Amino acid sequence: MKDALLEVEDLKVRFKTDDGYVTTVNGVSFSVNEGETVAVVGESGCGKSVTSLSILGLTPGEIYNGEIKFNGKDLTKMKKGELRRLRGKEISMIFQEPMSSLNPVFTIGNQISEVIMLHKGANKRQAFDKSVEMLKIVGIPDAQKVAKRYPHQLSGGMRQRVMIAMALSCNPKLLIADEPTTALDVTIQAQILELIKKLKIEFNTGIIMITHDLGVVAEVADRVVVMYAGEVVEEAPVYELFKNPTHPYTKGLLSSIPQIDQVVEELGSIIGSVPIPKEMPIGCKFHPRCPIATDICRTSHPSIEQIGLDHKIRCFHV
Ligand SMILES: Nc1ncnc2c1ncn2[C@@H]1O[C@H](COP(=O)(O)OP(=O)(O)O)[C@@H](O)[C@H]1O
Ligand SMILES: [Mg+2]
Repeated sequence: MKDALLEVEDLKVRFKTDDGYVTTVNGVSFSVNEGETVAVVGESGCGKSVTSLSILGLTPGEIYNGEIKFNGKDLTKMKKGELRRLRGKEISMIFQEPMSSLNPVFTIGNQISEVIMLHKGANKRQAFDKSVEMLKIVGIPDAQKVAKRYPHQLSGGMRQRVMIAMALSCNPKLLIADEPTTALDVTIQAQILELIKKLKIEFNTGIIMITHDLGVVAEVADRVVVMYAGEVVEEAPVYELFKNPTHPYTKGLLSSIPQIDQVVEELGSIIGSVPIPKEMPIGCKFHPRCPIATDICRTSHPSIEQIGLDHKIRCFHV
């Protein structure tokens, strides 16, 4: 087995609210190898973003348990300054809405240059040339011209390419992409996913792809981590997950993918919604929505178990 680039081990994150603490990430473990794309999938509110922001030390919540090891070093114990130097250089992140991460008052070229000068110690000229080169790599036509434009002068798809160019400008070892294509139309989405796949091969970047969309998972992932209510409920290589989904939640997610020959009213899907943290059910957190729940599910909390090579699941009924 390859050495893991990132190892998240028993991560717990809580938020202080008027009613006391609520834990929204509750014992999450997974790892990412070099050049591997791990998809983290689950409905909205399952804790995907809180998990990924924790890796970068950017979550507004409090990490109160666990380790996040990057190349063997625990990021949760790192000083703020040290972590800041790592961000953008060794670990980069792209978000759903690139406009919120781009500065409206600087040109595209200046913003990418800034990152390169900060982390690579390049001078202005070198950094600008490298920015243009990165814009070309992510498939932006007329890169020289685009580098002189401002974010609002570009389309959503172009802005997302710019974000990716910026995220990759220092050859990070790990790229965290949180719903990077959710706000884009299907054609552009396909192009961006194609680009991410290409970059992974070219730079051997480890990627965490966060998404609620199993179509995206099928497209880019090597391995899949399924999250529900702050926990990992299933983990498997992508081929195995689609061929042999085992957790009732995973099965539900898979049956909610529209099939070409299905009429809309017949869509299979999971009844109900993700519980809010302060109303977390006891026992298995999925039991109120689970079609096969029994007494034990209502009273006991299942632990995650290995059920095959690289295949883990958290369910009493395997
Ligand atoms: N700043 C915050 N304060 C309090 N609760 C939060 C905060 N950010 C996220 N949460 C809660 O944490 C849970 C997980 O959220 P999130 O990680 O954003 O879900 P996902 O990315 O899977 O949609 C949700 O219940 C959300 O309400
Ligand atoms: Mg999210």
